[in-house]
Amino acid sequence: MKLEQALDNNIFKIISRSANELQLDAYVIGGFVRDFILQRSSAKDIDIVAIGSGIALARKVALNLPNQPKVQVFKTYGTAMLRFEDVEIEFVGARKESYHEDSRNPVVENGTLEDDQNRRDFTINALALNLSEENFGELLDPFYGVQDLKNGIIRTPLNPDITYSDDPLRMMRAIRFATQLNFIIEKGSLESISKNSERIKIITNERIVVELNKIMESVKPSIGLLLLEQTGLLQYILPELTNLKGIDEVEGQKHKDNFYHTLEVVDNIAKNTNDLWLRWAALLHDIGKAPTKKFSKKVGWTFHAHEFEGSKMVYHLFKRLKMPLNDKMKFVQKMVFMSSRPIVLAQGVTDSAVRRLVFDAGDYVDDLMTLCEADITTKNPNKFAKYHNNFKIVRQKIIEVEARDHVRNFQPPVTGEEIMKTFNLKPSREIGIIKEAIKEAILEGVIPNEHDAAFKLMLDKGKALGLNATLNNN
Ligand code: CTP
Repeated sequence: MKLEQALDNNIFKIISRSANELQLDAYVIGGFVRDFILQRSSAKDIDIVAIGSGIALARKVALNLPNQPKVQVFKTYGTAMLRFEDVEIEFVGARKESYHEDSRNPVVENGTLEDDQNRRDFTINALALNLSEENFGELLDPFYGVQDLKNGIIRTPLNPDITYSDDPLRMMRAIRFATQLNFIIEKGSLESISKNSERIKIITNERIVVELNKIMESVKPSIGLLLLEQTGLLQYILPELTNLKGIDEVEGQKHKDNFYHTLEVVDNIAKNTNDLWLRWAALLHDIGKAPTKKFSKKVGWTFHAHEFEGSKMVYHLFKRLKMPLNDKMKFVQKMVFMSSRPIVLAQGVTDSAVRRLVFDAGDYVDDLMTLCEADITTKNPNKFAKYHNNFKIVRQKIIEVEARDHVRNFQPPVTGEEIMKTFNLKPSREIGIIKEAIKEAILEGVIPNEHDAAFKLMLDKGKALGLNATLNNN
């Protein structure tokens, strides 16, 4: 089989010529070939394997390129990288590898193309295209990877126990590819993942999070999340989620399984946003329910203050997984913390409740609504329609209230300085009390969010506090 069209980019001709000059064979391998056959938007990076020195080939290619780009060499790994236009090209010498039991740092030996293909993760990632001048575009597919692509199967080239113990991250990669491509993991492979799941502990959190994020960015993240759970990997990565599993029953009263509910919420939100962090918020919105779960005879199951607990857990989870502790984390915390707020509104919408929601959520109010809509997983069609309809009303009211009252990013219409000047005060408690009264009156709709109305309220409130106004305010 020839796949010459895959190699239309001039760069491949240059690599081919360079390999010829060095008298070595070179191949394009991995994701580039896979994605070309799948007609998937082609990957930004290209992996080249040389039968010989990958570093020497990279240097030769750089010399043959018009702009002679810089070659970045990673001596310890025997690899080299250069950029051509907006493509990253990585060069590696074909390897035969054996691994130490307790780490993923391989002992590397030079090898043939077959050796190199053998040590790759999946048959669909072991496809290689020949770059030699005589056989340019020839496909080398010793493990029937093209067939697996057609049938939608993730399979390892070797016995899965060997492939996964060589690099346990591959267990997550299998699940990630199954999620992204909507493929099935071959039975032996799936069993091997279950058997070896504990080995994920030797992998750094940074690498795990890369795969997790790719699962979360997929069209249907629940495919991967379920596989992570079923194989036992999830308990090592996100125990906060596995703790949500199960339904308890006391005296005939049950609560829903919050793990499966969460998966539905994540899939729902994935239909409405590509924002990775809003998707994470959906994944974590109920994690506070496990530690706050209580049963009381009077009210049944409760998860009192689970949103607060959950938002604290977000910080610890991000820290543990070495995820960013910046505004992204704060956004997820805020979403988790506020995740039940609009629900109350869905039962009955008042202007003041909407104003308070906009005031508290600020710029994130739309994201919060998107999260809450995704949270509706009731199987009762009447309730489903009713809740969605109420949220539609809430969204409409948010627009109306915002146009009128401008409480998003609220700035007090009367400043602390103006209060001090009016009552001839030094910084003191009274100023806080007056400011709070003005804010409350605006949010409750007692006065509009305007200076004059707020100023008048300030005077009244000051009087009630026994303050004297020196009304020469200019
Ligand atoms: N590979 C592997 N084992 C790993 C990581 C990578 O065998 N743990 C091999 C695979 O052949 C893979 C290639 O290295 O195709 C390149 O890896 P990478 O760039 O991480 O993945 P891609 O397959 O290119 O896919 P994506 O771009 O979607 O991550």
